[in-house]
Amino acid sequence: MKKIAVFTSGGDSPGMNACIRAVVRTGIYRGLEVYGINRGYEGMIEGDIKRMHSHSVSNIIQRGGTMLKSARSMEFRTPEGRKKAYDNLSALGIEGLVAIGGDGTFTGAKVFYEEFGIPTVGCPGTIDNDIYGTDFTIGFDTAVNTALDAIDKIRDTAAAHDRIFFVEVMGRDAGFIAIECGIGGGAEFVMVPETKTDLGKVVKSLKGLRKSKSSSIIVVAEGDELGNAEEIMGMIKQKIKDPTKEFKVTTLGHIQRGGTPTAQDRVLGSRCGMGAVDGLLAGKTNCMSGVMNNELVYTPFAECIGKTKPLHPDHLSLLDILSI
Ligand code: F6P
Repeated sequence: MKKIAVFTSGGDSPGMNACIRAVVRTGIYRGLEVYGINRGYEGMIEGDIKRMHSHSVSNIIQRGGTMLKSARSMEFRTPEGRKKAYDNLSALGIEGLVAIGGDGTFTGAKVFYEEFGIPTVGCPGTIDNDIYGTDFTIGFDTAVNTALDAIDKIRDTAAAHDRIFFVEVMGRDAGFIAIECGIGGGAEFVMVPETKTDLGKVVKSLKGLRKSKSSSIIVVAEGDELGNAEEIMGMIKQKIKDPTKEFKVTTLGHIQRGGTPTAQDRVLGSRCGMGAVDGLLAGKTNCMSGVMNNELVYTPFAECIGKTKPLHPDHLSLLDILSI
């Protein structure tokens, strides 16, 4: 293998730049020519591909976002789109790919590999932490800390006014961000898609809590089955039936995707990036380079996207215990 290309796809996450940097520099260190594809599968289809050098990735490790930009491509879902992408890659003689992204990225990479056979290794880049085959995804730690910082600030004002705050965090269909910033932020409740919330129980406890605590923070994962934070707040407000209580909603949104990556995300991104290149050189393909139990491991794309990563049961117990 002489030429490889790297791209980022789907929602960006802090630490993707560290991962790109590691792919480029590991590739060069191992004697490869490395190319960068702009805007994920979109750029692959358009032939927006450039040669990368060691200096191309200077001064990016501390930056959020992705220097290669990202996109969610509809055209890559079509056989015609994928054929165009393949033609562009083969015109440049690209023999291996590193795909940095989440489950959508790996779904595309798997189909593409099975159709055209260009060896591909993925790196788990998403704030959601919902990828099987790695203990943490690149960007998750930064997103949790960003949300936590916001929750700490909200608590100051919540306490000053004795208010009940509903804070909605990202995570798509997974509750990892919600549960970690809920535990770290001392939330009274955390609502996650993985477990069914008994609203009656929440209302009863909130009424009780209000006697002993000046403020309450309820963290709501955006994918919760009961609805978004605004809707859940409405249901609870109706059941509490106390006009003296003030309820507020804060949706943190895309703030969770930006910002300077934490040390953990920079190191994880770097390890996974190096692992992806070394994996390609060792003949691995159709799999992801992740870190489990502090070891680099390769997991087939089929498992990464097909298996659900569960919340840790200790985290669920902690929420119950610590909110009394
Ligand atoms: O997958 C990352 C993520 O930030 C999710 O947490 C969120 O649901 C989604 O992407 C938002 O996507 P977009 O930026 O396309 O609105």
